[in-house]
Amino acid sequence: MNKSPDAHRMEKIVSLCKRRGFIFQSSEIYGGLNGCWDYGPLGVELKRNLKNYWWRVMVHERDDVVGMDGSILMNRAVWKASGHEDTFTDPMVDCRSCKARLRADQLVEKNGIKQCPNCGGKDLTTPRAFNLMFKTFVGATEDESSLTYLRPETAQAIFVQFKNILEVSRKKLPFGIAQIGKAFRNEINPRNFTFRSREFEQMELEYFCRAEEGMRWLDYWKEERLKFYENIGIARDNLHALTVPDEERAFYSKGTYDIEYDFPFGRQELEGVAYRTDYDLSQHQKASGKSLEYFDEETKQRFIPHVVEPSAGVDRTVLALICEAYSEDEAPDEKGKMETRIVLRFHPRIAPIKCAVFPLLKNKEPLVAKAKEIVALLRPHMYVFYDEVGAIGRRYRRQDEIGTPFGVTVDFETLGEKDPALRDTVTLRDRDSMKQERVPVKDLPGILVSRIS
Ligand code: GAP
Repeated sequence: MNKSPDAHRMEKIVSLCKRRGFIFQSSEIYGGLNGCWDYGPLGVELKRNLKNYWWRVMVHERDDVVGMDGSILMNRAVWKASGHEDTFTDPMVDCRSCKARLRADQLVEKNGIKQCPNCGGKDLTTPRAFNLMFKTFVGATEDESSLTYLRPETAQAIFVQFKNILEVSRKKLPFGIAQIGKAFRNEINPRNFTFRSREFEQMELEYFCRAEEGMRWLDYWKEERLKFYENIGIARDNLHALTVPDEERAFYSKGTYDIEYDFPFGRQELEGVAYRTDYDLSQHQKASGKSLEYFDEETKQRFIPHVVEPSAGVDRTVLALICEAYSEDEAPDEKGKMETRIVLRFHPRIAPIKCAVFPLLKNKEPLVAKAKEIVALLRPHMYVFYDEVGAIGRRYRRQDEIGTPFGVTVDFETLGEKDPALRDTVTLRDRDSMKQERVPVKDLPGILVSRIS
């Protein structure tokens, strides 16, 4: 069942994101720019960990996928051939009462009559197609001859480089080309924080195969992608694989799944897994006049491969990770009084900071020196954070709120002052269970690396 939207939870998440430096409004001091967001010191780490893990499982851990990094600006002919120039549109409606610009599918319907969701007005224009691509000009003249677009998806760069990459990688079907990069869409109505933005990042794989194997690879990739989300800490219960009905699929697609997540504002798409047939390569072959065929050495046949495309949004996944991780529980303060604790329960593999290191007291030189030594020991392996300010409980609380999974405290036992057997050991605290274990300093890198990878 679709869970009911939870506006209050979303407000708390947005406020935490700003307060702790995950996500800020773009150009905030000038009033912002609608649909654009900046990632702060913690947000950029989270995003980077997500992209690195995607790259690891989609490229490095496979024999059948290679990567590329295409340009954002491409020849306008690409967007003509792909169909984006003519058909990459959303139906737009204006409300004559409050002057809002709306996507036709976002109108509300009461008693069979369409209304403006902002003011309830019924005086609406008829829908007209609005192209979502941002126009720009290449070079010094600003006319039709120099017009092109900021790419609205990363996929087309993969299709137009298909032949080059096939040649240099010497891959045989089935094989894939992966890419992570920015995409831009002039969305009519950006909303739900970063969920629908005008500038965002995509993680896309184009997996080329034989026509007769397309449907099988479609199901394979749907399952792989669901596993991926589980492996970054999203509960399977909050993920849904929707089979897109025939009438809603792109005309060239023989099958599409939308992987959806239960956001606090409702169930929404995280990723599309689409079987795009041979549409894209055929279009580019036709328009460019260059062969994009594959030669099968065994059968001596030439043909245009089919493609299955898992296409995920980086920003949407980051938002899902934050929503999934956000929790509040009760924990004792310094004096043992219970207080509400905000915790981001990130999976250690994507948490922005992996381990915080605290000297018990900041004015005891040997404790501080030992803690800094531990920071230096861990730094080559992970992002660590040193903090000596305030009571230990407060320092833990600050790390819980940003999702740091492990905390190391250097105390007098570490210095061997109480029990020589405990010299060079520290307490390692787990964010979720709040349990503490005593571990030798020399074992810390190994223990932590095994828990964060
Ligand atoms: N190449 C196929 C493609 O671009 P899409 O469904 O339009 O397909 C793929 O986009 C993914 O990109 C979406 O599932 C979503 O995660 C992300 N995405 C698309 N538009 C977005 C937007 N305006 N803001 C944030 N993410 C977006």
